[in-house]
Amino acid sequence: MNKRYLVTAALPYSNGRLHVGHIAGAYLPADTYVRFLRSKGENVRFICGSDDNGVTALIAARKEGVSVEELTQFYNERQFQDFERLGIKFDIYGGTHQPDFVDLHNRISQDIFKVIYDKGYFVKKKATQLYDPVAKQFLPDRYVKGSCYHVKSDGTPCNYDEAYGDQCEACGNAIDPMLLINPVSTITGTTPVPRETTHWYLQLDRLENRIREWLGGKRRSAADSPAWREFVLNFSLGQISQGLPERAMTRDLDWGVPVPLDDPEAQGKTLYVWFDAPIGYVSFTAKLCEEQEGDWSRFAEWWKDENCRIVHFVGEDNTIFHVLTWPAMLMAEGTYSLPWQVVVNAFLKIRFSGREEEKISKSRGAAIWIEDYLKTFEPDPLRYYLTAIAPESGRTTFEVNDFIARNNNELLNSLGNFINRTLTFAHRYFDGKVPEAGQRSEIDFRHMTKITEQAEKIEALLGKFQFKAALGELMALARSANVYFDARKPWVQRKENMAECAVTINVCIQTVKALTVLMAPFLPSSAAKCIEMLNLDIDPDIIPWIEIEAEIPAGHQLGQPTVLFKKLDPETLFSVARDV
Ligand code: MF3
Ligand code: ZN
Repeated sequence: MNKRYLVTAALPYSNGRLHVGHIAGAYLPADTYVRFLRSKGENVRFICGSDDNGVTALIAARKEGVSVEELTQFYNERQFQDFERLGIKFDIYGGTHQPDFVDLHNRISQDIFKVIYDKGYFVKKKATQLYDPVAKQFLPDRYVKGSCYHVKSDGTPCNYDEAYGDQCEACGNAIDPMLLINPVSTITGTTPVPRETTHWYLQLDRLENRIREWLGGKRRSAADSPAWREFVLNFSLGQISQGLPERAMTRDLDWGVPVPLDDPEAQGKTLYVWFDAPIGYVSFTAKLCEEQEGDWSRFAEWWKDENCRIVHFVGEDNTIFHVLTWPAMLMAEGTYSLPWQVVVNAFLKIRFSGREEEKISKSRGAAIWIEDYLKTFEPDPLRYYLTAIAPESGRTTFEVNDFIARNNNELLNSLGNFINRTLTFAHRYFDGKVPEAGQRSEIDFRHMTKITEQAEKIEALLGKFQFKAALGELMALARSANVYFDARKPWVQRKENMAECAVTINVCIQTVKALTVLMAPFLPSSAAKCIEMLNLDIDPDIIPWIEIEAEIPAGHQLGQPTVLFKKLDPETLFSVARDV
């Protein structure tokens, strides 16, 4: 069997810049996972690109006074650069309305729509929707805002007053704009009026049992299929038990994928953005196949082959679309594989020193933008912190002071310190060469065993998408490496027994190598620096996992030690955040 992985990260709306919450939510864990898979020699493709269609881009374009094409191209480019500079490396970065992608994207989206249509999973219905009499248009999705009418799981009303017409960001529920309390048009600020229009609705209720089965059925008990995160499963099963309503998959909008029906009533309508956006995963895969194999239709090898595991990484507000709507679309279509796993992270909140913890927000200036961060800092401290506080089982908070402290105390004083003291020692007393392995004693062997044990733990945790815990085990190994160094006291051994000192430093250098392999999925640029310091002939982008056990031979010439992590100063980061 030729096992493969197709990994995706949620397509960001190309309507603004990226902040730390976006990165923690989907892109960083996805990149870490992909780097891990590659180091294990797996065949993997990592797919992303921008979500250009729909109302979010239109609203932003209107605000900035540019065309929606210009806007989406501008932010597509800028977001791509942020990802690159953070070391988040996709195999392809597309965009659902980017010039090189839009034709194939429309074609595949329309094909899927038509198959679902032919199979009878859509109902055409007249419905009353909100219409803005001043703007003279219907107000789908984010064109309308109001108070949320849902009841939260604790029985109290949600009442969130910034709920959009598609989804409430506070309680995560889907919104029927007609039910919003005190709706207003986000275009003109007027109170919209009801008016009749026609749309095509996906009959999610007919797929309820199959979705439930997929969520909790046989597939989940397969030994190789990691469990869903608990809040994801509870939320999804909760939605199903309430009954899944029919959802309109078309919109009265002229920006997006045209509805591919001959019906005169389909004229001037486009597909709902949440219908076409996840198909972006497919169409960008197709584009990648066209680039690599000259044949876009080979996307089927990834999307229609049971040996391929499809893994989606998304943030909390995307849960409903990836765990219910998207699998339902795929089930209705019938020829695609279902996701093997949907990895969902909760929101990240933020807390600046001297301020209360708050929701990350553009309008209130409560955000750390990636572009700003990268003006002053290296990518790895951010990657480290965002994994260390990963919101894997619930919301967590980015605390500016904590970020600084953990960089200085953990990355620098523990991991960086061990690598630095080992390599400088080797340079000072062993001419920068790996000393003889000699006769290892009990304590040396115990430490070498610790490396193997930690590597096994990290591997198992990464395989289960437990990135935070895996990083914890990496740091535990760094700490015990320092304990080993301190216990062996090579600075004393050097004066009393040079042969024993050689044994110690040999063990330490092997440890540095193991740490390099193990840190690579989390901290790729630091791992690359280590490869250079160790002077190893290994591609720093894919450091094979098996290198953990492969010892560097005695006599090997090491490279020059350089600074891995720098001490960070809270003022600098705070000013980065304030500048915006
Ligand atoms: N653009 C959406 C967001 O940022 C995510 C879309 S994911 C996809 O919340 F599946 F639809 F592509
Ligand atoms: Zn709500």
